[in-house]
Amino acid sequence: SVAALDDEVPTRHRVPDRYAALEHAPGPGRFVNTPDTDPAVAENRARARAVLARVPSCDLGQDLIDAAHLRTSDEVDATVARTRAAAPAWAALPADERAAVLHRAGEVLEERRFELLEVMAAETGKTLDQGDPEVSEAVDFAHYYAELARELPGVDGARFEPATLTLVTPPWNFPVAIPAGSTLAALATGSAVVLKPAGQAQRCGAVLAQALWDAGVPRDVLALVQVEESTLGRTLVAHPGVDRVILTGAYDTAALFRSFRPDLPLLAETSGKNAIVVTPSADLDLAVKDVVASAFGHAGQKCSAASLVVLVGSVATSRRFRDQLLDAASSLVVAYPHDPRAQVGPVIEPAAGKLLAGLTELDPGESWALRPRRLDDEGRLWTPGVRVGVRRGARSHLTEYFGPVLSVMTATDLAEAVAITDDVDYGLTAGLHSLDPQEIAAWLGAVQAGNLYVNRGTTGAIVRRQPFGGWKRSAVGPGAKAGGPGYLDVLGTWHPRPARE
Ligand code: ALA
Repeated sequence: SVAALDDEVPTRHRVPDRYAALEHAPGPGRFVNTPDTDPAVAENRARARAVLARVPSCDLGQDLIDAAHLRTSDEVDATVARTRAAAPAWAALPADERAAVLHRAGEVLEERRFELLEVMAAETGKTLDQGDPEVSEAVDFAHYYAELARELPGVDGARFEPATLTLVTPPWNFPVAIPAGSTLAALATGSAVVLKPAGQAQRCGAVLAQALWDAGVPRDVLALVQVEESTLGRTLVAHPGVDRVILTGAYDTAALFRSFRPDLPLLAETSGKNAIVVTPSADLDLAVKDVVASAFGHAGQKCSAASLVVLVGSVATSRRFRDQLLDAASSLVVAYPHDPRAQVGPVIEPAAGKLLAGLTELDPGESWALRPRRLDDEGRLWTPGVRVGVRRGARSHLTEYFGPVLSVMTATDLAEAVAITDDVDYGLTAGLHSLDPQEIAAWLGAVQAGNLYVNRGTTGAIVRRQPFGGWKRSAVGPGAKAGGPGYLDVLGTWHPRPARE
């Protein structure tokens, strides 16, 4: 593991005061969240079936990916220079015109929802039920940031200057929503963007970029690139023509980027090791459902996933919750996403390293209540694992595995459960299942995580309603929350206005 970065986010996020009114208001603008696909509509079911039928033969060929392949440092220089040169005209557009392009981008993404679902399933193994809310989130980001950007120039006493060039380096696990959110946010402020999709999700990145170009984002304002990470990645990240990097990925990657360029303005959403606490007052049926969805949805490959469940008091000592949890987890169908029964898809690559250890190794005192089984030769399909007897400080208490494996821990009371939750270096999401208002208040006041969810799962933040971002080792940089007020503010520079202006 790496040494702590100086600017990991030390405390709970605060929205700038000037947005206080927006936090609970239906604003900004006339923003409304986009609904997911309604499976009750027969036409939607037919389209989903058609997508599933196409997934196995979906063409992921490189020739379909309209990205600049950067093979030399000269090519990196040229892309950076060309994109920077396009920025001033984009930044000079009236905010309304940029907002109109972003709104159009939201419409194009909605029109291409099923194409996006197909490519996500084929390229990253994401099941349709997991991909669908991701497209909704991407659409939401477009409309939300379009409206939020209108607020930027109107602030008294200060002038906002966008970055000229923002580099966006998203992960493969949300291969549409996260690159869309980061890219659209930077574009909304008036910055040009170089987007480097994750190596495992290049076609998803290409379909996204094409949607934004078709919506009217000029080609040179949004450059889609592929680079050999091990050689030219450093050249790109450390390039003096890059003003800011928006990274979503592992904490170690943020540290690596910092080592490339110590003064790099970085806005990073990093790792998580998130717990759901279940107290005796909880609706246990609901808790089981939310724990299972949060732990095993997308095969646990979410920074927001619950990989710990902490059972308090009688929930720990009685069999009821555990038995229901094991029943529910063992009933999940593990399969590639073209199989319509699939509830848990494959892991992105054959399990290796930390994930393989998480799925196979036990520390002293631990045992498998549900032992993960490998279903394929390659090592990508794993049945959910549930580990019990996990002690405080054990590997499976503190390590992010990023896969379909859950650790069960026990606590005598809520205070101990909070301490177990907060032992980890990260602080991204946390969940509480309790119907006791005093417990809820105590937990909300104490737990160290960015997104706190009561009687709900820990994944699937919703733009504007649940802005997303963590603290401790889950965030590096200014710690703004994606999809919330204040996110665009940290992507540029604020200059005081001269007193007489
Ligand atoms: N924003 C994603 C979620 O909330 C990571 O699950």
